Amino acid sequence: MRVVSGIQPTGKPHLGNYLGAIRNYVAFQDQAEAAGGVSLYFLADLHAISLAHDPAELTANTREMVATLVACGLDPARSVLFNQAQVPQHAELQWLLSGTARMGWLNRMTQWKDKAGKNREGQSVALFTYPVLQAADVMLYQATHVPVGDDQKQHLELARDIAQKFNNDFCTDAAPVFTLPEPIIPPEAARIMSLRDGSAKMSKSDPSDMSRINLTDDADTIMTKIKKARTDPEPLPSEAKGLEGRAEAANLAEIYAVLAGISLADVLRQFGGQGFGQFKPALGELLIEKLAPINLRFNALRQDTAALDAILRDGAARARALAIPTLDAAYAALGLLRG
Ligand code: TRP
Repeated sequence: MRVVSGIQPTGKPHLGNYLGAIRNYVAFQDQAEAAGGVSLYFLADLHAISLAHDPAELTANTREMVATLVACGLDPARSVLFNQAQVPQHAELQWLLSGTARMGWLNRMTQWKDKAGKNREGQSVALFTYPVLQAADVMLYQATHVPVGDDQKQHLELARDIAQKFNNDFCTDAAPVFTLPEPIIPPEAARIMSLRDGSAKMSKSDPSDMSRINLTDDADTIMTKIKKARTDPEPLPSEAKGLEGRAEAANLAEIYAVLAGISLADVLRQFGGQGFGQFKPALGELLIEKLAPINLRFNALRQDTAALDAILRDGAARARALAIPTLDAAYAALGLLRG
């Protein structure tokens, strides 16, 4: 079992990042270890330059995200934790795979279409070839399991297509170079929505800080945000069907369920018939209880730049060692001479 996943080094890590991705990383860290496998998690800093960015902010955000991952339970001694930029094999393999990936495949990527909008001509080449780098990220380590959110499923399917075509075109059936990666999209990695608008994803780019719970928020802030979260005047229903068309109510009930580790049906059995005046304080308390230890560890770590950099340096050295054999095999399969 080889688990590989990447996370963008965005600032302001929030509840959506935690419940949607990071929690699954921690679960897979345990599973991979139990199966005698390895898990690798990296900051996708090379992907971050595909859009306009501020260099100093990228550096700060990369460190902040490492602190977040460790605070949430990723253990750099048990998982390989690093940033792409320190493992040049990612960029090298991307180039090699660029000979295999087709323009038509990339043109169909919904994330490309969404991010480029009407102005495709004005986008960076990196935004277009972003999914090829992502394929390289996982293929470089022969990933078997790739825990991701629903929005990354298409990119993983593309990675499988690239791996398959490369194996077909350049390898014998008996000795394929690449493993086909499997996206793992856990049902509870449900999209956590904005607290102000149940139809928008919780996001760090929302101008209103009231729309999200940051992993850095203290207890008072969390309670205030939950109490002010948008809802409707109806009490919670006692069955999931009653949440149809009530996106904000559904989101709060969903957050409760995921955090408490119970089903949505159980939440509604417990709180059905109660108004938000009763449910919100219960949700706020649960959030505070679950996030307090993360908050504590994060605050202790975030200022310790030397420790964070040491984690990344060590992780990158281990990642390079794992990456090199596959990269060498890819060069050789393509007939590229390297002395
Ligand atoms: N594109 C992913 C995202 O935005 C991040 C990512 C980069 C990734 N490389 C990856 C995820 C490889 C899984 C595997 O969330």
